[in-house]
Amino acid sequence: EKGGFEHFMLKEIYEQPKVIEDSFRGRMSATDGWIKLGGVSEFSTKIDKAERFIITACGTSYHSGLLAEYLIEELARVPVEVEYASEFRYRNPIINETDVVIAISQSGETADTLAAIEMAKERQALIYGICNVIGSSIARVSHAGSYTHAGPEIGVASTKAFSTQVSILTLLALQIAQSKGTISTSKLRQILYELEHIPEKIEETLQLDGQIRELAAIYKDATNFLYLGRGVNFPVALEGALKLKEISYIHAEGYPAAEMKHGPIALIDEEMPVVFLATNQSAYEKIVSNIQEVKARKGKIIAIVNKGDTQIRNLADHVIEVPETEEVLSPLVTVVPLQLLAYHIAILRGCNVDQPRNLAKSVTVE
Ligand code: M6R
Repeated sequence: EKGGFEHFMLKEIYEQPKVIEDSFRGRMSATDGWIKLGGVSEFSTKIDKAERFIITACGTSYHSGLLAEYLIEELARVPVEVEYASEFRYRNPIINETDVVIAISQSGETADTLAAIEMAKERQALIYGICNVIGSSIARVSHAGSYTHAGPEIGVASTKAFSTQVSILTLLALQIAQSKGTISTSKLRQILYELEHIPEKIEETLQLDGQIRELAAIYKDATNFLYLGRGVNFPVALEGALKLKEISYIHAEGYPAAEMKHGPIALIDEEMPVVFLATNQSAYEKIVSNIQEVKARKGKIIAIVNKGDTQIRNLADHVIEVPETEEVLSPLVTVVPLQLLAYHIAILRGCNVDQPRNLAKSVTVE
């Protein structure tokens, strides 16, 4: 049942190329420049006119929601708010008919996410569910939605569910952008073409497994980790930190790289490993200067960079080189080494990666 892998988590990490392909198969064509998510087409009048998207979720699904804020605002030019379901449902939020509420949930059973959409539904918003489990409660309560098609996710730490959520959210942003005319045909095709190539780029990234295991052996006894990223890679920093916390029990925090100066920089000394997501073409020099700030305080730098990068190699203690892609799609690649790093550190510390202490696969009580 684990397909020759020692743990479900590792199997699920390695399934990502295939399930990402499953998530977009039949829903787009790069050559012909079309995207068709059934749920979006069905409610296109309401979705195209939406004045705001509110995304609500918990945990890893919340991180893919944060990423969608960048995607939808950048591509479709509609304001987006992202809310922890547990806060949103109790805040008496302002919601109206022109809002579209997107709920993201692997299990489709998370109590807070379910309650949040029930409340938003009563307030007349259109509810769009992005779930993995077919026929789950959130899928049933939603007016429309898309399944992620990741297949069963058994490991408590979410991996392939995250990447398929991101793939669907990218298609959603692009489909809205296309119907609103906020994206050129050539740009649309370019992103879709790159999306089609993501599975092979993840395949290539998975070959870094051995290098990442060696890195894990160096840092397995660290007591703290910082993860820093900018733009679309900021949510990836949060996700990398969550993976490490939940399965290895090492304290980790994700931060927007520039926010480090406003506090967390005080934590940095020679004992602190800092993982930088440094693939963003649009903020490259800014990330380089954030790396220099950490280096000046003797932090240990592990940088995820694009293949062939030379500037950061000279600054970092370790570089993990991943294949370059369109910046908006880069999280699909950069999250993979972070999943593997958390996995190997947890294994080296003797932790039960598939069933970490105190955690349940789906949180059906608030
Ligand atoms: O099933 P959901 O996507 O609604 O679950 C949300 C969170 O409970 C879940 O992502 C949790 O944070 C994972 N253990 C993270 O790996």
